[in-house]
Amino acid sequence: MTQDELKVMVAKAALDYIPKNAVLGVGSGSTVMKFIEQIGISKAKVAKAVSSSNKTTEALKSVGVQVVDPNEVEPYEVYIDGADEVDPNFNMIKGGGACLTREKILTSMASKFICIVDKSKLVQTLGKFPLPVEIIPMAREQVARTLKELGGNPVLREGCITDNGCEILDVHGLNITDPVALEQKINQIPGVVTVGLFASKGADIVLYATEDGVKVLKRN
Ligand code: 5RP
Repeated sequence: MTQDELKVMVAKAALDYIPKNAVLGVGSGSTVMKFIEQIGISKAKVAKAVSSSNKTTEALKSVGVQVVDPNEVEPYEVYIDGADEVDPNFNMIKGGGACLTREKILTSMASKFICIVDKSKLVQTLGKFPLPVEIIPMAREQVARTLKELGGNPVLREGCITDNGCEILDVHGLNITDPVALEQKINQIPGVVTVGLFASKGADIVLYATEDGVKVLKRN
């Protein structure tokens, strides 16, 4: 089975988590794109959605889902999104698609984060996938120096400007044994908009696709 087929499998499984008559938070990335495709194919009813990227917004509209400004909705129940890595404690690295800030905003508004991945995203320790950090461009060099002091090797993501007009540093070489502490530390560096560690608020449910079907992990 290809990784693409696994993504379709988990995207279909996520349809069961769409709330009835309530706002749905929708993340970004190729797995989420498959989820949106499945909304279109299955004609699943989505009352309205808040979106984590311009690309997601376009895709949702193309399958007939009404997208509203997060400022116009109250905190809601379900947010569905992918991840670049997930550890056994439901901590995640996100931001491979450069949408981490809006993803974190929508996560903060949701009571349940449903993470949809294929099995390749499950890891014992976060950090093999370079950690994305969204930054204000004028702070690039100073943020990079501080990230080096924390043991990482930050690399500017060439040609990438986020939906918020910012840049991304991808931090290589980290072995993240205390994700909550590192998330807090990096968030405090002046010029950092968001770090792609989702640990102080991680996933609540992880759906991961394997050749034997979609497995479900739930936080206790
Ligand atoms: C985008 C993200 C994505 O969820 C993450 O990169 C996973 O993407 P994909 O489903 O394409 O593997 O955080 O900012």
